[in-house]
Amino acid sequence: MLPDGSVIPHSRPTLAAEDIRAVTDVVRSGHLAQGEQVRRFEDAVARFLGRRGGVATSSGTSALHLALLALGVGAGDEVLVPSYTCVALLHAIQYVGATPRIADVDPGDYNLSPRAARRHITPRTRAVIVPHMFGAPADLDAIVSWGIPVIEDCAQALGATYRGRPAGSFGVLTVCSFYATKVITTGEGGMVLSDSDPLLRRIRDLRDYDGRSSLALRFNYKMTDMQAALGLSQLERLEGFLARRQALAARYAAALRRLPVRLPEATPDRTHIFYRYVIGVQDAAGLARRLRTSGIEAKAPVARPLHQLLGLTGYPGAEDAARHAVSIPLYPSLCDADADAVLRAVAGELERAPVPAAAGAPRASDDWRSRRTVR
Ligand SMILES: Cc1ncc(COP(=O)(O)O)c(C=O)c1O
Repeated sequence: MLPDGSVIPHSRPTLAAEDIRAVTDVVRSGHLAQGEQVRRFEDAVARFLGRRGGVATSSGTSALHLALLALGVGAGDEVLVPSYTCVALLHAIQYVGATPRIADVDPGDYNLSPRAARRHITPRTRAVIVPHMFGAPADLDAIVSWGIPVIEDCAQALGATYRGRPAGSFGVLTVCSFYATKVITTGEGGMVLSDSDPLLRRIRDLRDYDGRSSLALRFNYKMTDMQAALGLSQLERLEGFLARRQALAARYAAALRRLPVRLPEATPDRTHIFYRYVIGVQDAAGLARRLRTSGIEAKAPVARPLHQLLGLTGYPGAEDAARHAVSIPLYPSLCDADADAVLRAVAGELERAPVPAAAGAPRASDDWRSRRTVR
């Protein structure tokens, strides 16, 4: 705990009076379920990402599920995904009965490594899901050049840009999540976006079972108007959220630069939105544990790499991330005083951290500060 007995949480939503007003207005109106607010939210997110249209859903996971169904992915097909990401990607692939093919990530930015991924492409690869991890855009040029349908996953990257265009405007489909602690929130929620009217129509049809004359399998994956009103209100403040994230990231980088820590990479032509501030340290789990005792909640940014969940080996980039990456609090509602408390605690721990000595010292290949490219 901090000296005053409080704890700085790892993440929390940034809510304001206008958010509360937007939701209560919908409750007062008596129209709670999917309606006008959802349509407005779909249009607003599509406009923000430069896409033709969007279909709001109950979560990012249901958005991924509908995206795969819309592309016709099913049993016998393979879907390429990176190892160091949210397990929801794996579930969505399992929902449609397809086979996940796991590719390694680049330990520099924790994103899908195009070089490592190529060897997992087979004639049965029907889609690649590309999450922009922690707010840093993946290498879209290389991935799009394969000609495999790309589902961009912007759950963590709303507002990021790649070569001056929004991340989320490159894939044939894009999914978003608006979970409570995402960049903007609807509590739970998601969206699929595309420039293709036939795909959008198919996704809209799959999201709802009501009023249909055929017995094709459909889902109840709808968003409510209460959620969409909150999303619209949050979207209006997104530019401010992003600016605050940049300011906090700059504050962290300036203070941590002199310490034995791997900082997030700045890549030319890409805007990182710092959804998570992920640092690389010798002993990530140990640092998180020690920070928690000082009242700072820090976490492994991914609970467990997907290749480990599937019992696979040969993923040095994801293994590196699992051992060395730790996410420290960064969100728009984090005040400067709390950010400085985080910095003091991290610096104190890192300055105290023993430098690895001969016995049990890491091998050269374990050097967590190097930014090897995965082969
Ligand atoms: C990259 C990524 N994709 C998908 C999801 C799933 O989103 P949801 O929790 O809204 O189902 C998450 C959730 O954290 C995520 O981080």
